[in-house]
Amino acid sequence: MQTRESLLSCETISGQQVEEALGKAVSLVEKNVEEFTDCFPDSNSCGNFYPRSENVEWTTGFWTGEIWLAYEETGKEKLRRAGEIQVESFLERITSRIDVEHHDMGFLYSPSCVAAWKLTQNEKAKKAALMAADNLMGRFCEKGQFFQAWGPVGAPDNYRLIIDCLLNMPLLFWASETTGEEKYAEKAKAHIQTAMKYMLRPDCSTYHTYFFEPESGKAVRGVTHQGNRDGLAWARGQAWGIYGSAMAYRYIRSGEYVDIFEKVTSYFLQHLPQNLIPYWDFDFDDGSSEPRDSSSAAIAACGMLEMAKYLPEEKSLYYTGMAKRLLLALWKNCAVLSGDESNGLLLHGTYARASAGNPCQNRGVDECNTWGDYYYLEGLIRARRDWKSYW
Ligand code: GLY
Repeated sequence: MQTRESLLSCETISGQQVEEALGKAVSLVEKNVEEFTDCFPDSNSCGNFYPRSENVEWTTGFWTGEIWLAYEETGKEKLRRAGEIQVESFLERITSRIDVEHHDMGFLYSPSCVAAWKLTQNEKAKKAALMAADNLMGRFCEKGQFFQAWGPVGAPDNYRLIIDCLLNMPLLFWASETTGEEKYAEKAKAHIQTAMKYMLRPDCSTYHTYFFEPESGKAVRGVTHQGNRDGLAWARGQAWGIYGSAMAYRYIRSGEYVDIFEKVTSYFLQHLPQNLIPYWDFDFDDGSSEPRDSSSAAIAACGMLEMAKYLPEEKSLYYTGMAKRLLLALWKNCAVLSGDESNGLLLHGTYARASAGNPCQNRGVDECNTWGDYYYLEGLIRARRDWKSYW
């Protein structure tokens, strides 16, 4: 547990440390691109090395996003070419409908194809990202006003939203901006409104998933899927809440999302252990032998740096400072320093941890994961300059 004072006594990452960490991370991406251009790293590493994967699951866009971030940093043609090859794969994936029957179109297509469009005006990337947005629109449930995360649309055993989906919404706002068609933004706003209404508990922890009744759309109950047990906060879910509410504010500019951002962030920060690398669930604290989830800290840092752009000076400095504390903790405790150690960027993530209170199998426990790598790199870049978001 942390207090405001104990948090403020932690060091922030200095400008020089940001340069060092960023230089290291970008050089590792350049090395890893030799292995992963015609294929993708799997969602998580095994023994800190990612196996190769086809373009499947919800996570491949993060690797392509790392390539685009490294391209922005270096301007190197070989990175641009690798990004373009991966964009072709994303176009093929949505055209052939390979593993796209779920809501994670934003996680897949924002850091890969929206990024490629924004940076290089790649028409195939624009086409693929718009197709992905249309695919996501097909998952909107009028009864309940939300995007259904998983399973066949309307299936009663899966009629729910999940907090992670807040990060899929920027794809829809981008689709509206790009096509001039309001329908994408309208559905995104409706989903955000529903999610924000139900995801926050009175103690400012968040539900991971929330069920609705298919016939009436009535909200039924919140349950965890990847957390340790119902009623408590899965660390990554809370982090999605931080970045998700910052993104909601970015696109909707409603003061209620600032309020939610401050509440979920405060809960996250208070529940950090001493070294600021969260355990995978906030059920655990210093002294526990449970694994950490470094990716949660990386996501939270990006969310705070995004929100800091819109806040009055005092609050902006506070959240920027907190994000820089998390980034220093990641650099000191989790950063990969050599390609001999890992082909990722960030150690000590947890994809899924089995417990009596969830249906998960252990997966990627104390390993790198692609989103942890991506958000760590995005966070370092955000700490250095006013970065033009892919989201
Ligand atoms: N969006 C799935 C996860 O965070 O594991």
